[in-house]
Amino acid sequence: MAQILILYSTTDGHTGKICRRLRERLQGQGHKATLHDFADGDPGPTEGYEKIVIGASIRYGKHQPVVAEFIRRERPLLERKRTAFFTVNIVARKPAKNRPETNPYLKKFLKQLRWRPGKLAVFAGRLEYPRYDFIDRTMIRFIMLITGGPTARDTVIEYTDWASVDSFADEISAM
Ligand SMILES: Cc1cc2nc3c(=O)[nH]c(=O)nc-3n(C[C@H](O)[C@H](O)[C@H](O)COP(=O)(O)O)c2cc1C
Repeated sequence: MAQILILYSTTDGHTGKICRRLRERLQGQGHKATLHDFADGDPGPTEGYEKIVIGASIRYGKHQPVVAEFIRRERPLLERKRTAFFTVNIVARKPAKNRPETNPYLKKFLKQLRWRPGKLAVFAGRLEYPRYDFIDRTMIRFIMLITGGPTARDTVIEYTDWASVDSFADEISAM
């Protein structure tokens, strides 16, 4: 049994949902998994955890700055722990862009930070036009138009492959 800290940043809540799924699976395997949303401030003492998982979603091409700030600041700690990172974005709905080696956001993020977590994952996110404001909805519909995705204003689609979220939990469990 390991003490696992799952840190995440989310804007519309989907990354939080993925984290809850990870926690459920890890707890089912006998681990103690604690969730912390970066929006709730500093996660507090992290030394007691054996494994640290960080998850973040993409908005307009970037993860929230707080994620890179935490990784830079806590680098010595992260180097001592077993770590995993995952990104959530809509580009990952495309099979050619849903792996750590092929997802442009993940590749760029890790290159900038020069960080090498033990395990990596990419999950396709959720598209929910009715909840976005006019500007966001217009922007995302335009991006979808040029990338062959859905553009109907009432579209709500969860692209996430939950089986691969479960597999990632199993990798975290085994690392
Ligand atoms: C305003 C906005 C901008 C987004 N920008 C991108 C983007 O640049 N690239 C991408 O692949 N997905 C983009 N997405 C899709 C999100 O990454 C996806 O909806 C994800 O599930 C959001 O996760 P969250 O709810 O945890 O923030 C965007 C979504 C919104 C609402």
